[in-house]
Amino acid sequence: MRSLDDLLAEGVAGTRVLLRADLNVPLDNSTGEALITDDGRIQASLPTIRALSDAGARVVVAAHLGRPKGRPDPAYSLAPVAHRLGELLGAPVSMAADVVGDGARLSVQTLADGQVAVLENVRFDGRETSKDDDERGRLADDLAGLADAYVDDAFGAVHRKHASVYDVAQRLPHYAGGLVLREVEVLRRLVDNPDRPYVVVLGGSKVSDKLGVIEALLPSVDRLLIGGGMCFTFLAAQGHEVGGSLLEQEQVDTCRRLLADAGDRIVLPADIACAESLVAGAQVTVVAADAIPAGLKGLDIGPQSVQLFSDALSGARTVFWNGPMGVFEMAGFAGGTRGVGTAVAAVDGLSVVGGGDSAAAVRTLGLDESAYSHISTGGGASLEYLQGKSLPGLAVLAD
Ligand code: 3PG
Repeated sequence: MRSLDDLLAEGVAGTRVLLRADLNVPLDNSTGEALITDDGRIQASLPTIRALSDAGARVVVAAHLGRPKGRPDPAYSLAPVAHRLGELLGAPVSMAADVVGDGARLSVQTLADGQVAVLENVRFDGRETSKDDDERGRLADDLAGLADAYVDDAFGAVHRKHASVYDVAQRLPHYAGGLVLREVEVLRRLVDNPDRPYVVVLGGSKVSDKLGVIEALLPSVDRLLIGGGMCFTFLAAQGHEVGGSLLEQEQVDTCRRLLADAGDRIVLPADIACAESLVAGAQVTVVAADAIPAGLKGLDIGPQSVQLFSDALSGARTVFWNGPMGVFEMAGFAGGTRGVGTAVAAVDGLSVVGGGDSAAAVRTLGLDESAYSHISTGGGASLEYLQGKSLPGLAVLAD
């Protein structure tokens, strides 16, 4: 796999480099103005953009934002992201009016050496995510026409077989960016003979999103700690009432089987912070995890669970944490994520935070980012990597 360093060594001054970045940041549109609530992915993309720009490349950034329906939608414009990127770079960044049309071509033509342009959200073009190879190929042809070389630094999107991630790499000399290389190097250490004890903490709302990774990781972990909305389906599988909490009834049997096969390694919460409904200022009631009353819904793990999870983490030498323990965006339900985040940060060994939501939680809750060995930019991508799946965006770079 050729790297950004190889490209820089070949010389990029005056050449057009298409850089696929993952700039999929959370936006708050509630005030009518798009506010970026966590710019971590933009920050993580800076070193590669700077390296190319400093070397005199004309940098054409392709990225997605959210999941628009294959046509332009102002709510998902990358304009606020381009603006923030310019602030962080301390240099103007031009924003193309479209993905590969006249606007994009004009933006690229007017770039001087070292300047940066951002193409509009690649998912405004339905061909980006098409299942049809020819359709994706036609968008990839258009993207490739805008550049002389392709660098993929969008680790968070390497699990997607999309035109700007996969097909375009087949049409241009292609290189892996520094972020992609670093992410892979760290995640490989979780898979290849991790130092023990190896503890994984999983949260997030849907257990169905995590079953694949649970099945894949269970044989190799010493402890699997489960919090977040997904814990309620496991609690139900143990025969407990979960009140109005999130429950995926169709997954209860699978969770029961996982508990039967590996229950000695799976740790579930001991108590749960509940409320009647998820509203700001709701009255918080902490109950035992096996006795959630009918009128309450679980929205965070409770203090005893934080202690239980922290104890399990305290001697660990390798930790992977993906997914918040509760609705951390609301003060009353942030304690579980803050407590577990603090315990992961204190680990004496390799501590990896995976995933958009948990990485955002670390920053939103003011936890010390530097206390973790690595905060991944990839949510789904890191989970698929850990499952040993072939990731199209990585496979194509290796060719
Ligand atoms: C992410 O947020 O995990 C990546 O940006 C990929 O986004 P996607 O799940 O919409 O493909």
